[in-house]
Amino acid sequence: MCGIVGYVGGQSALDVVIAGLRRLEYRGYDSAGVAVLADGGLAAAKKAGKLANLEKELSDRPLPSGPAGVGHTRWATHGGPTDANAHPHLDNAGRVAVVHNGIIENFAQLREELAERGHELLSETDTEVVSHLLAECFSASGDLAEAMRQVCRRLEGAFTLVAVSADDPDVVVGARRNSPLVVGVGDGENFLASDVAAFIAHTREAIELGQDQVVELRREGVTVTDFDGATADVRRYHVDWDASAAEKGGYDYFMLKEIAEQPKAVADTLLGRIDAAGELRLDEVRIPDSVLREIEKVVIVACGTAFHAGMIAKYAIEHWTRIPCETELASEFRYRDPIMDSRTLVIAISQSGETMDTLMALRHAREQGAKVLAICNTNGSTIPRESDAVLYTHAGPEVAVASTKAFLTQLVACYLVALYLGQVRGTKWGDEVLAVIKELSAMGTHVEEVLTTMEPVRELARGLADKNTVLFLGRHVGYPVAMEGALKLKELAYMHAEGFAAGELKHGPIALIEEDLPVVVVVPSPRGRSVLHDKIVSNIQEIRARGARTIVIAEEGDATVRPYADHLIEIPQTPTLLQPLVATVPLQVFACELATARGNEVDQPRNLAKSVTVE
Ligand code: F6R
Repeated sequence: MCGIVGYVGGQSALDVVIAGLRRLEYRGYDSAGVAVLADGGLAAAKKAGKLANLEKELSDRPLPSGPAGVGHTRWATHGGPTDANAHPHLDNAGRVAVVHNGIIENFAQLREELAERGHELLSETDTEVVSHLLAECFSASGDLAEAMRQVCRRLEGAFTLVAVSADDPDVVVGARRNSPLVVGVGDGENFLASDVAAFIAHTREAIELGQDQVVELRREGVTVTDFDGATADVRRYHVDWDASAAEKGGYDYFMLKEIAEQPKAVADTLLGRIDAAGELRLDEVRIPDSVLREIEKVVIVACGTAFHAGMIAKYAIEHWTRIPCETELASEFRYRDPIMDSRTLVIAISQSGETMDTLMALRHAREQGAKVLAICNTNGSTIPRESDAVLYTHAGPEVAVASTKAFLTQLVACYLVALYLGQVRGTKWGDEVLAVIKELSAMGTHVEEVLTTMEPVRELARGLADKNTVLFLGRHVGYPVAMEGALKLKELAYMHAEGFAAGELKHGPIALIEEDLPVVVVVPSPRGRSVLHDKIVSNIQEIRARGARTIVIAEEGDATVRPYADHLIEIPQTPTLLQPLVATVPLQVFACELATARGNEVDQPRNLAKSVTVE
């Protein structure tokens, strides 16, 4: 959700904050604002719309800039995307400025209380109460960090807050409960941000802030306490993402760049994890082998695209390890009363490591004694920190809101975990699994091959720009791939798109088929479990007989599907369980091209934001 930046140091705070916001705009983009300490006061500007509107405002009416400041890009929760609701929010005297990510649940009660004490609140946001409370506490204590601790103790909900005050111009304070906040440690300057992308151009040294911590940032150092003022332990780490990884690098959109980066992301996630003898090496999985041997059930929790990766993992885990596995939406799981104990392994999949529902699901599981393994792309984020172990994906920063390379690397990590579980438990593997391990190592190359053949897919997408609906069908692991294809199309092209299990067609969805309706069908390999293949070929014939325009994704050399495919997209031959790694790529390209043809914003689709840190 919202992007937050704070800075104190020798550079122009305004320049550093605006550059940081540019890198965080994918977190929310309905309004933006900055406040900087200058000339003994606070200078602020905020504008509805994209960051470009704020930049235009700043070029028309430049702000003075001093050595400290805060900035924000918003994804609206309370109050529409207007100038007045944009952050930062100031107190009535204009001496304290606050930016916020999250939701303050008791804001209505706090607002009433403030109004009774004569405060005039000017926006519809939940955030504004914080600037007023902070100003009150600060004028009583004269210590901005202490004031922040006092305020945090009164707040309910999830929040990241960053504040500055004209009455203590050498300090920026931040606080976090559930929502993300990272410190960037520089030389004579320090940074605060929702994620490291905002400051990696300046420093790669970072500090993870824990739950319920307040940080005081000065040029010369950083102090972290809990909400009661006790010194807190923090973990310092080096960010290995390269600053250029968060640039477009010549592509029109981040999404195009991230699609193109997939062969490398897949190879990087495999790197060093399968040795020359085909043995899995997952040293970072700190759950002892003795515990993994006793696991009786695996439960996978995730949201959105990560959930689709988890659905595919279920097929792999059950087939390769024979351990029962369920995959559930984290938002449903967290409110259920699931049956689990210390013999349950919960796998929480999250690119950002900050998705609120996934975080709450993992807490729910740990409270019941389950072991939690996170699959995550973001070092220093909350989900891995609160898990028993983590397997990092090496996708690098994913900036486009629609997930692409993170999905492929989540799949790779899921396959690695499934194979590792089998290895540790001594599951009797036949030649099939040994061949899969070998094939997995080559998947980066296969993804590369797919990317070289995408021009016909782009042309097809352009030709469908005026359609209203596209359906997606798949069986087995092709079913979650169909759901992922539909999700990409919904979020980017704003079209009605549904992914169905092909076997369900006759139970209802076939009624949707009409003349020239585009239906994308993901066809499993004819080799191996050919029954799956034959069933879906029948489904293709059934929908074609009813007028559907069939867009068939099938393995190279699969002659059986040709007569029934109005459009054929060929993908390399792979074992069925690994096919999602290659079958998803054309669907990503298809959605991206359709969105472009419809004139939509590819990297920042309407109403969405990357990293859903509120419920
Ligand atoms: C879709 C997309 C979302 C995310 C979901 C989970 O393209 O990006 O559906 O997959 O919000 O996010 P993470 O993986 O950060 O937990």
